[in-house]
Amino acid sequence: MRKSWGFFRFFIILILLANQFFCTAQENKGVVGKNGMVVSVDEYASQIGIDILKKGGNAVDAAVAVGFALAVTFPAAGNIGGGGFMIIRFPDTEEAVALDFREMAPGQATPDMYLDEKRDYVEERSLFGHLAVGVPGTVKGFELAMEKYGNLKWVDVIEPAIELAGKGFKLNERRADSFNRLNERFEQGTKEFFRVFSKPDGSEFKEGDIFIQKDLARSLRLIAEHGSQAFYNGEIAELIAQDMKKHGGLITKEDLGKYEAFVRKPVTGTYHGYQIISMPPPSSGGTALIEMLNILEGFDLGQKERYAPEILHLIAEAMKFAFFDRAKYMGDSDFSEIPVKLLTSKSHAEDIRGKIDLKKAIPSATMGEEILTIEEAKETTHYSVIDKEGLAVATTYTINGWFGSGVVAEGTGILLNNEMDDFNVKPGYTDDKGLIGTKPNLIEPHKRMLSSMTPTLVIKDGKVYMITGSPGGRTIINTVLNVIINVIDFNMPIQDAIDAHRMNHEWMPDLLRLEKGAITEELIESLKAMGHTMKESSRWRQGDAHSILIDPKTGYYYGAADKRSQGSAIGY
Ligand code: GLY
Repeated sequence: MRKSWGFFRFFIILILLANQFFCTAQENKGVVGKNGMVVSVDEYASQIGIDILKKGGNAVDAAVAVGFALAVTFPAAGNIGGGGFMIIRFPDTEEAVALDFREMAPGQATPDMYLDEKRDYVEERSLFGHLAVGVPGTVKGFELAMEKYGNLKWVDVIEPAIELAGKGFKLNERRADSFNRLNERFEQGTKEFFRVFSKPDGSEFKEGDIFIQKDLARSLRLIAEHGSQAFYNGEIAELIAQDMKKHGGLITKEDLGKYEAFVRKPVTGTYHGYQIISMPPPSSGGTALIEMLNILEGFDLGQKERYAPEILHLIAEAMKFAFFDRAKYMGDSDFSEIPVKLLTSKSHAEDIRGKIDLKKAIPSATMGEEILTIEEAKETTHYSVIDKEGLAVATTYTINGWFGSGVVAEGTGILLNNEMDDFNVKPGYTDDKGLIGTKPNLIEPHKRMLSSMTPTLVIKDGKVYMITGSPGGRTIINTVLNVIINVIDFNMPIQDAIDAHRMNHEWMPDLLRLEKGAITEELIESLKAMGHTMKESSRWRQGDAHSILIDPKTGYYYGAADKRSQGSAIGY
């Protein structure tokens, strides 16, 4: 009897599992898991996250291990030479925290450091080379995460990355190609940078090549053994400061020693009964996201087709208003008062809805006499993790541009960011070519530059429902908005919500962009007739939103890797 009951149960479980996987294929729900899920841009990193969970680590341990691994396998954006944000929510207390490890300006930084003698902005200086580098925050941020919320030992979450760097990993085609094309971007990359990312014989990288980073392995080992102390006060700090001095950079050992990561209170809002938890300043992401959702909540988007012109129009108008507020008000809240409460209030959204014409686009220029914003770099990376207890972690971190500043501090193997470019670089001067000079985001010593990173959790009935985020400069905020409304208003399974064509409007430039596939002649004509300026580009590819959805009925985790980057979702 016992035997046949056991067999029966086994059979039922098989049917249930088959059903889950069948649904996955049919409905594009993504990869399914019950005990844990990691979704990132890179298969090595996602696997390391899952291994950490299987080993008894929690989602914070896994997230930190993934972050260190991406610094090795995805050097274009993964990093220890940059900074970022992490949202963590605890299932027992239902509380959430926001970790801020954004880079900060060096002590000698000045508001006009990127202007020449005629006070003209010299773009190369904020984008390439040592002067573009902000004091990195990632190592301090990860250490803070582990000290406060991790289960495993610090060394346990770095060891896999040390191994990948020291023994090497297999390059996929994309990674090999990205290395081969570095001299297109970095005419001025440092010698050390090209030494690290080229082959000694000068030949091209190929798919399947093993890429070894001995210096980086050594730096990671120092960090594993001595903690963030090695990076901010010890040998690595010494090497970074020396490299800066040698090449005209500003970061000193004192700047590194002064760096702190913070636990902040996330910014929160609601949308159709779901709670939204996201990143507060120094990111504009959470605030602008909640502002847009508040505006859109007053329109019943789900009544129409996802790509109906009326829907795209409303979303574009909400985006414009939120990005106008972003440009006007947002910066580092440790340096000036940022009206987050006002911007995320339902009453502010109601005021804005009163200004939106359902049939006509508001020309961006009429919304504020000043301000066009400078194009932000788009190379960041986001990953999502959940463990079997439901501890959820959304991490977005960056070195800003593709391969950052093109500076590898000699002897460290550490690629440094060009995050200084996220400041407003020409004080008081705003023009229609993309410069913005408003005060909250001007450069000041030890200030954090404004970010758009939007690691976000969506909560339903007290439980985590979605974990999401994206790279993409200012488009990040709109990518996250696209994903959330796809799920909540248009009932899309998470993989469909990620795959669906995205749209973007940033107030300035006054341009509505849609990913290829969503654009039909008819749609373009309808939107143009409403007054929108459309830019039709088949190369527009918006974001890379590696996300997780938790089915409230079954508790199953659905991981959706973004195909735009061939990301990797692994569950178990
Ligand atoms: N550098 C991109 C961001 O922080 O939003």
